[in-house]
Amino acid sequence: MNLSQMTKEQLEAFRDENQALYDSFKSQGLCLNMARGNPCKEQLELSVDMLNVFDDGNFISSCGTDVRNYGMLDGIPEAKKLFSEMIGVNEDEIIIFGNSSLNAMFFAVQTAFNKGVLGGTPWSKLDKVKFLCPVPGYDRHFKVTEFFGIEMINIPMSSTGPDMDMIEKLVAEDDSIKGIWCVPQYSNPDGISYSDETVKRFAALKPAAKDFRIFWDNAYCIHHLTDSPEYILNILEEAKKVGNEDIVYIFGSTSKITFPGAGVAVMGGSKKNIDDLKKHLGISIISYDKMNQLRHVKFFGTFDNMLAHMKKHMAIIAPKFKLVCDILNKEIAPLGIGSWTDPKGGYFISFNALNGCAKRIVQLCSEAGVTLTGAGATFPYGVDPDDKNIRLAPTYPPIEDLQKAMELFVICVKLVSAEKLLAEK
Ligand SMILES: Cc1ncc(COP(=O)(O)O)c(C=O)c1O
Repeated sequence: MNLSQMTKEQLEAFRDENQALYDSFKSQGLCLNMARGNPCKEQLELSVDMLNVFDDGNFISSCGTDVRNYGMLDGIPEAKKLFSEMIGVNEDEIIIFGNSSLNAMFFAVQTAFNKGVLGGTPWSKLDKVKFLCPVPGYDRHFKVTEFFGIEMINIPMSSTGPDMDMIEKLVAEDDSIKGIWCVPQYSNPDGISYSDETVKRFAALKPAAKDFRIFWDNAYCIHHLTDSPEYILNILEEAKKVGNEDIVYIFGSTSKITFPGAGVAVMGGSKKNIDDLKKHLGISIISYDKMNQLRHVKFFGTFDNMLAHMKKHMAIIAPKFKLVCDILNKEIAPLGIGSWTDPKGGYFISFNALNGCAKRIVQLCSEAGVTLTGAGATFPYGVDPDDKNIRLAPTYPPIEDLQKAMELFVICVKLVSAEKLLAEK
């Protein structure tokens, strides 16, 4: 029965029943974590053989460089070849970084701040700098812009991507808007892949600010959870078609392909953008970990092999996503007290509780030993205006733990929803 149709007496009984279930969970002293999108141990094991690829004693890159030494600031040629295919750029349109794409994004914002974009005024010298933030979104993106004192403007998401009418209007009329955060495929946390029309409209944006950049974080470009993957259009190709290729910075990494702690991160863009950023990069580092780059290339060989490797990830984590959705469908759907995504890829399930309930649900889970991503984290400044969105990260816990964590989660959702509806009676 839908909770909103219950009488006060029925709701009180429902609340008391779930309070008792909650109390008994609490006494179990659980300690489970489904806060961050970490791969589980079995996923990490998939890439361990990579550590043996230098058993042949050959440390020489295809360009003749010994990867153990300094040099090749922007990456070795075979890594550029492999990863340019992954993010859809040419081999002269990519920089291979260290192990973190977040770090590359920070570098791009920092460089714009200190040195400007393609010779423009450094953002630090401007009175106001603003960024558009599709919400819900990735908390660490928002932390980067918050760190630089950039004002963030929420942009609602729909099933085809962010609200493009709003974006086109805002960027056309306000030259202090310098960028937008996008996770275009299997977005974090909604799992939405941008439609062809959305990508084309992004590629053709005409911002008032010449130094406006789309931060196209394609972190989940090959992270499918089904055998019929979703693909998005190649934004750089689309932008080239309309003479707008400088508008986008593309990011990606192998954090959730090989190892989050020891993967390879990349950044792509027009040759002009990449050449300009490379000038600044060389001040902070002599060269990145080229042994790791070559390790990845030797391990995978081809991009097709990377895709085959991702199927092994899928076999491990797809059942975890299914478990979460099955429990929500069984326990929450009939009550009408939440909605959620059933993503075809990526790392998250986005749960929307009744307005005003997310913080308390996360708090109750935490008090009973299950840590979730903080409520509000998926919004700039940690403020979810409706206090309803909770990001669920099913990949890391063993499936038995996930089952337990979800059993507790649905009890908390029921309890908090009943409390809310009773308060409104
Ligand atoms: C959208 C998105 N971008 C970037 C990252 C972090 O990537 P990296 O490990 O390459 O810094 C994550 C990690 O969860 C993510 O969800």
